[in-house]
Amino acid sequence: MNSPDQEKPIPSNRETPEEEPVGRRTWLTRAVSAMGLSAAGLIAPSLLSAAEQNHSDPTRVPGRTPSPYGSRASTETAQRLTTATHSLTPHQVLHGIITPSALHFERHHNGVPMIDPDQHRLLIHGLVERPLTFSMNDLMRFPSVTRTLFIECSGNSGKEWNGPTGKTVQDTHGLMSTSEWTGVPLMTVLAEAGIKPEAAWVLAEGSDSAAMTRSLPLAEVLKDALLCYAQNGEALRPEQGYPLRLVLPGWEGNTCIKWLRRLKLGTAPFMTREETSRYTDLMPDGTARQFTFVMEAKSVITGPSGGQRIEPGFTEIRGLAWSGRGLVKTVEVSTDGGRTWQPAHLQGPVLPQCHTRFRFSWSWNGEEAILQSRCADETGYVQPTRAALVAARGVNSSYHYNAIQSWKVDRQGQVTNVQV
Ligand code: CO
Repeated sequence: MNSPDQEKPIPSNRETPEEEPVGRRTWLTRAVSAMGLSAAGLIAPSLLSAAEQNHSDPTRVPGRTPSPYGSRASTETAQRLTTATHSLTPHQVLHGIITPSALHFERHHNGVPMIDPDQHRLLIHGLVERPLTFSMNDLMRFPSVTRTLFIECSGNSGKEWNGPTGKTVQDTHGLMSTSEWTGVPLMTVLAEAGIKPEAAWVLAEGSDSAAMTRSLPLAEVLKDALLCYAQNGEALRPEQGYPLRLVLPGWEGNTCIKWLRRLKLGTAPFMTREETSRYTDLMPDGTARQFTFVMEAKSVITGPSGGQRIEPGFTEIRGLAWSGRGLVKTVEVSTDGGRTWQPAHLQGPVLPQCHTRFRFSWSWNGEEAILQSRCADETGYVQPTRAALVAARGVNSSYHYNAIQSWKVDRQGQVTNVQV
């Protein structure tokens, strides 16, 4: 029982008749057995410090002293998948709705600039009464707002347009994360400069070496845009726009300009590269959708998910749902590839433009299964099937893929990405 190599399935699970739901008492017994097995299997001696190896009983040796800035347990190894231009959040191993800041996804267009916050300025000009510049101290003196919000790159799941591509949920859905963001409402700061009546669009510009710029319709962003300087209780990470980032609740991540240095008000969109050749959606008829800002309702099962393996018996199906238009109202789960659906439990808090965690209790009978989730938001919009999405948009775009994700469980319990 205590041997580390004894990682075979728990025998009692195999004997569960398919029709019989797992009783609470049986389930608890199995859960305790499973904990014993995994504890023996997971804690590899090589990962423990010398002191810990010498004293396997932690009650027999003084513990570590406090550190000025914390770090996770040395046995915890979840990490982002990184390339030169982006990093992917490992949703298959995360809990709750907040993404740890160190695991928040990244997408940048020419690296991460190092900015001295004391030297950083935000310029507001164009169609304003008084062009102004603000230091970080100026901005932090304004009344502040904190909101828990998802940010999703519009390219999240984009490779799935062309077939089941990602092996894991980190591959397929890793370009999104949720943080608690703190800053000052854009409206508050623009009011200081005085908005001229003819102003209808605002250009937001970053101070990275891509000089990322996007045009935004002024009336819409004035409702809830935030100029953020904090994430999950501390200053923004450099990769998230330190020291200042625009956050637009529910809008595609690219519009949430990082390292924000300039806002220019004008009468029309500025037609930058990032809204003409990029971040547009090519339709089957050759036209392109432009200024598609809102990330529409979407959900995904994060476990069991691609690359994982399950055992027969009780499995809690877990996942995330979100909508750029507001609240998630319902999430349904199918274990038969979409033929039948059952409601999942939404775990509070359920917040607008935020990841919502859902759960669904399931007993796997050892037969092939296809797991899906679909959500509906407060506008009544229902997450589309892949067939419906492709019928409407074709397969030429790499943005705004929000179709239902399917995970196949084979008879060995191995989970893979499929499209049905
Ligand atoms: Co778009």
